[in-house]
Amino acid sequence: MQNALPGKVVIVTGASSGIGLETARAFAQRGAIVVPASRRSNPPCDVTKDEDVQRLVSSTVAQHGRIDILVNNAGIGMRAAVADAPMSDVRYLMEVNFFGALRCIQAVLPVMKQQRTGQIVNVGSVLSLLATPRQSAYCASKFALRALTDALRLEVARDGIDVILIMPGYTDTPFFDNMYRYGGPPRITSLRGQHPAKVAAAIVRACERRQREVVLTFYGRLGTFMKRFFPRLLDWALIRTHHQV
Ligand SMILES: NC(=O)c1ccc[n+]([C@@H]2O[C@H](COP(=O)([O-])OP(=O)(O)OC[C@H]3O[C@@H](n4cnc5c(N)ncnc54)[C@H](OP(=O)(O)O)[C@@H]3O)[C@@H](O)[C@H]2O)c1
Repeated sequence: MQNALPGKVVIVTGASSGIGLETARAFAQRGAIVVPASRRSNPPCDVTKDEDVQRLVSSTVAQHGRIDILVNNAGIGMRAAVADAPMSDVRYLMEVNFFGALRCIQAVLPVMKQQRTGQIVNVGSVLSLLATPRQSAYCASKFALRALTDALRLEVARDGIDVILIMPGYTDTPFFDNMYRYGGPPRITSLRGQHPAKVAAAIVRACERRQREVVLTFYGRLGTFMKRFFPRLLDWALIRTHHQV
């Protein structure tokens, strides 16, 4: 059955930029009430801080009476070889990309369980399914997010809560300018990637259609197909690219 969005209360983390900003717009266009949550939101919400996330959830419930959808989108990137990735930066990346999502999930679950309805959307990546050179920490955070998503889906299956994983491929956002970088250019190609509005549309559609998982972009789908059926060929292609940039 189609899930209608008008009037739904939707928290979007990382809504100040890129995919999160477009997602907040797309939900608002469907008549949803959007609560943006990022460090640049007013009030600020840093997903690495327990008190910020608790305040986000309690103020949303106080103001709107419920939380229908949580989109865990806040995230940062890192380009560094395993040998060079500073441990403190890897820890912080995990704190945002994995623990930040977990923190938000733990905060909204009691509300959604009491309502006996809700949707949790985690923004993973094609790199939730395959790992690329110089992105080990980022890939690890997105693999971990996929595992969390899969386990949670089973745990809340009888609570009326949908758990959805969106796995975008290369998307044109400030992500690449914001990422931690130790050697090499921010982008490994001169192409700009898909517009973030495409990811936003996929997130909205996944909520409406109660989809389980979505992989985005042609190359994203090609990569996951190759990882599954031709893993050595994919390794060869990735090693070749790695040594060209
Ligand atoms: N761009 C791509 O090619 C691509 C591909 C696959 C998946 N993704 C994923 O898509 C998501 C969004 O990325 P994007 O491409 O839209 O990048 P972006 O434009 O850099 O946006 C990242 C967002 O995360 C927020 N954020 C960062 N640290 C935060 C923190 N500690 N607390 C709260 N919010 C925080 C930022 O807001 P503030 O600075 O205001 O806090 C910003 O709104 C990420 O999870 C990323 O891994 C991106």
